[in-house]
Amino acid sequence: MINILVTGGAGYIASHTNIELAAAGYVPIIIDNLSNSSKEAVIRTGELAQYQSIFYEGDVRNQELIEKIFSEHHIDAVIHFAGLKSVGESVQKPLKYYQNNIDSTLVLLEAMRNHDCKTIVFSSSATVYGDPLELPLTESSRVGFELTNPYGKTKYFIEEILRDLAVSDPTWNITILRYFNPIGAHPSGRIGENPSGIPNNLLPFISQVAVGRLDKLRIFGDDYSTPDGTGVRDYIHVMDLARGHVAALAHSKPGIHIYNLGSGKGTSVLDLVHAFEKENSVTIPYEAVPRRPGDIAACYADARKAKLELDWYTELTIEDAVRDAWNWQSHNPNGYDKS
Ligand code: NAD
Ligand code: WQD
Repeated sequence: MINILVTGGAGYIASHTNIELAAAGYVPIIIDNLSNSSKEAVIRTGELAQYQSIFYEGDVRNQELIEKIFSEHHIDAVIHFAGLKSVGESVQKPLKYYQNNIDSTLVLLEAMRNHDCKTIVFSSSATVYGDPLELPLTESSRVGFELTNPYGKTKYFIEEILRDLAVSDPTWNITILRYFNPIGAHPSGRIGENPSGIPNNLLPFISQVAVGRLDKLRIFGDDYSTPDGTGVRDYIHVMDLARGHVAALAHSKPGIHIYNLGSGKGTSVLDLVHAFEKENSVTIPYEAVPRRPGDIAACYADARKAKLELDWYTELTIEDAVRDAWNWQSHNPNGYDKS
């Protein structure tokens, strides 16, 4: 049995990853303070993966709790998902973001060192590339320059902390995964993305328009220098992303290794809206409004390194993602809340 400590393990990407971990024979041990998730996600994930969830409700910054987990289980590796991720909130409350995301990482890394567990996979983001100088983005594209929000800076700073750690002790096996835009849900429709309040991200917004919770989509800018004028992103199905973590664990090796997890393809806002409409036979009312501050025109990955070194590549399409997102949303109009 290989025990994996999954921080933030009740969250969107982690829930889907836990299913793939269990399928690959790993035992996920979850810690989550439920600040942006619900216990129902842990329960449903356990049902889908047919395992008895090991779940600690608590904060990764709680040193005592982390020590307790490491003494109660032999932890072979950690996947560190825990973090706050709202770009807009991070601009309003930078200290909350620095404290949560960076302190939790430091507490975790210290506990790992104390228990001689030196294998970690970290959830980073394409946001560390800022406004791209070149497309597609490779892992050696410029990072950390003119990042427009504290959230993105926490990801960059944590990457730097991990880099320093690798220099200080080359026996650490550190994998940094830079996710592009994760979307979609488990095909069962039992788990999916469950944003609190009005969604910031595009596909959850579209899904809530489709289900009637929101009146129409506002497209932030139709005057970008992209083929149809709307923003272009690299959307990746969350089940593909989940498998990326299993591949990263399987290929863990000494040093620090960075991978883009993306499809390598750019999709515009309008492309995604139209795919959703076509695949799900629904109409999404929309209007173009001014650009959202901090947004960039286009961002997509060169994902060849992950293919070459991790033998990982995306298998699912935008059509799969919009269908699975709608399956989740239409069966769970209020997410995990039953009311
Ligand atoms: P999520 O909010 O669904 O999951 C994060 C989980 O971490 C939540 O369940 C939350 O309750 C928990 N958490 C936060 N701070 C914690 C703490 N101090 N102690 C314990 N638990 C804590 O988000 P997600 O979309 O699943 O993202 C997972 C990770 O991937 C995050 O680090 C996020 O920044 C990163 N990421 C996400 C995206 C995206 O678009 N979803 C893109 C790139 C990177
Ligand atoms: C996608 C496109 C919008 C909502 C964010 C974070 C990033 C990462 C992923 C974690 C853009 C447009 C959106 C809407 C719209 N998260 N849009 N109307 O901005 O690429 O990335 O999430 O690391 O850090 O910044 O994703 O889904 O918000 O937007 O027109 O209501 O959809 O302008 O072109 P983004 P997104």
